[in-house]
Amino acid sequence: MGRMKQRPFNFSAGPAILPPEVFERTAEAVRSLDVPGDDSLESRLSILEISHRSKTYDAIHQEAKALCHEVIGIPAEHEVLFLQGGASLQFAMVPMNLRQADRPAAYIDTGAWSKKAAKESKALGPTEVVASAADTGYDRIPAMPAARSYAGASYLHVTSNNTIFGTEWSELPDAGDTPLVVDLSSDIGARPMVLERVALGYAGAQKNLGPSGVTLVFIRKDLLAREPVGHVPTMLRYSTHAENDSLYNTPNTFGIMVLRNVLAWVKAQGGATAMGERNQRKADALYALLDESSLYRPHAQPGSRSTMNVTWTLQGDDAEAQTKRFLSEATRAGLSGLKGHRSVGGCRASIYNAFPEEGVKVLCEFMREFERKA
Ligand SMILES: Cc1ncc(COP(=O)(O)O)c(C=O)c1O
Repeated sequence: MGRMKQRPFNFSAGPAILPPEVFERTAEAVRSLDVPGDDSLESRLSILEISHRSKTYDAIHQEAKALCHEVIGIPAEHEVLFLQGGASLQFAMVPMNLRQADRPAAYIDTGAWSKKAAKESKALGPTEVVASAADTGYDRIPAMPAARSYAGASYLHVTSNNTIFGTEWSELPDAGDTPLVVDLSSDIGARPMVLERVALGYAGAQKNLGPSGVTLVFIRKDLLAREPVGHVPTMLRYSTHAENDSLYNTPNTFGIMVLRNVLAWVKAQGGATAMGERNQRKADALYALLDESSLYRPHAQPGSRSTMNVTWTLQGDDAEAQTKRFLSEATRAGLSGLKGHRSVGGCRASIYNAFPEEGVKVLCEFMREFERKA
């Protein structure tokens, strides 16, 4: 047998790196769940083949929900839902369910994802973009607009971390009495957050929480009571899923189990606080390198820099060719997924919760060496 090849460092923006312990635990459950103390036949089967109505699956489902509250810090007043359709379906479900007659929906535009979210709202009714970072090429989070600009809105929507541009709200904004809706897809669980401020939060799981195909939504119970304006199909109503404990139809049972495994891992590491400290150290190391360099230029401005997606471009007359060379040498060095999003180019290192500090060290060494030789 040949020598096992070393695992590459995975900087993918999503689906993204998961902890090795999660792969192990998940692989076992694919073979056979073997739940201690569960003497049902299902507990001796694979997670992939048991009913979502079984006692064995229900224990996983309930544990996953409980960990969302405990580890991510979702308040008890919020209902936790496991949906499908990705964060992109939430772009539409949010306005379908939450907009109110005679009240516009308000959005803060911090890049491609918030634009897509606003687009779905515009198709349904009055929508106002109350602040935007477009003028500066989305290199920062704009100042919070005056409260009067959104005070009468059905809700105010923000994107907490902009996966493509690499900017992040250093703290979630306080929207006062206006329900705050947050797309947390790329920084949920990455640090302690004041989620009491959030009326509805959503996140595709495939960055910090698990595999693609499961979307975490949490919604304050009073918002569930909002009567939608116009007809909303049964499957697209939050109330359907809340009333049925996310088991109205067949959920992504495998995805929810992996999410449970990821959150149990985060808890064992010391929870969101420990994650936040580790994530900050990783991001600080990369930004320090970028700030010192004359070859690399960080995209995001201090104060708005993402701890999850670090973005930069290469400078010089032959920047495009240099970037290509950088990426191909990185690949040869076992550094995977550093290409920037197709819409902005350049490079991006996604360093979510599961990304090891060691990998950032290796990337920094590689980047210093590449610059020295350039
Ligand atoms: C911030 C943000 N919102 C939304 C999305 C879209 O998510 P999905 O592919 O789950 O629809 C992404 C995907 O990368 C994202 O990063």
